[in-house]
Amino acid sequence: MTRFKFQKIKEMNKPIVVSGIRPTGYLHLGNYFGAIQNFIRMQNDYNCFFFIADIHSLTTHPTPANLQAGVKQVLAEYLACGIDPEKSTIYIQSDVPEVTQLYTFLNMNAYLGELERTTSFKDKARQQPENVNAGLLTYPVLMAADIIIHKAQFVPVGKDQEQNLEMARKFAGRFNRMYDCELFPIPRPFTSDGKDMIKIPGLDGSGKMGKSEGNAINLVEDPKSIRQKVMRAVTDAGPTEPNSKKSEAVDNLFTLLKIVSTPDVVAHFEEQHNTCAIRYGDLKKQLAEDIIKYTDPIRLRINDILSNDLYLGKVAKMGSEKARESAENTLKEVKKLIGFKQLF
Ligand code: TRP
Repeated sequence: MTRFKFQKIKEMNKPIVVSGIRPTGYLHLGNYFGAIQNFIRMQNDYNCFFFIADIHSLTTHPTPANLQAGVKQVLAEYLACGIDPEKSTIYIQSDVPEVTQLYTFLNMNAYLGELERTTSFKDKARQQPENVNAGLLTYPVLMAADIIIHKAQFVPVGKDQEQNLEMARKFAGRFNRMYDCELFPIPRPFTSDGKDMIKIPGLDGSGKMGKSEGNAINLVEDPKSIRQKVMRAVTDAGPTEPNSKKSEAVDNLFTLLKIVSTPDVVAHFEEQHNTCAIRYGDLKKQLAEDIIKYTDPIRLRINDILSNDLYLGKVAKMGSEKARESAENTLKEVKKLIGFKQLF
């Protein structure tokens, strides 16, 4: 047996993971420590498909220029963070038309009532009442197609996507029952061993870091801007009694410090808080510098990759070829089961 074949067989035995991201903004520290670091760890042990959900992003009607720039940005950011196109399949959703074919078929068994009851649909309908389009309604169906087209077993997603994943499980099971087959594994949320599931707080005192919350530090952010954002982060009036509990805002800064700084730095500021000697300005200065140590190499790589269209094109092409091979195989089986007959 050749080495190549052996590699292939090993690939086939690895559990399949699919995850997508909408190209609607810069990746931030929350994405990096909450999701991307896990993706990078998974690359060796799983057969990973990571894609850019550009069709999903059409629900909010981006201009062609914004759509293109967004896709390129996320692709460059994924690569700069260390997602390896040789190990994982990185692709752009619209490059794999099989996904939208499967979406069409799944739509025939997705019911208006269940789609209307989805929380993300209700939220979006409230946020953009002037644009409640059918794509928003069937968003979970397209997401299900993304996942099951590769017969994924695991989907690493955040809390906000749990219900959409639940819908994908429902649609996969429904197809299997309807056509009396076991074509689709029922995809499960990917949870690593707990300690990796960190929630990254924002800089505004409460809640998590998010694109739309306006409390994020982006990976492409320049050092000056990072310093400004961190120095403006919410704190409190300072502890008045020794060993007192931290307020949520201050606790959030410590959470960030624990992620980017060394244990002795964390211990130093813990000690200072416990003895009421802490100066938040010092903590913030240290935090900003330690964040920059993390993000700056990534920022430089992102900009480097963004200026290399040839490389980006190569990666996208290779990804689409690998993804289409997998998608075509599934789609063939699906069409046969549904009863489409090839008469020529
Ligand atoms: N809905 C996801 C989000 O907004 C993006 C997404 C689209 C996705 N298709 C997916 C995530 C398939 C995981 C699997 O974050």
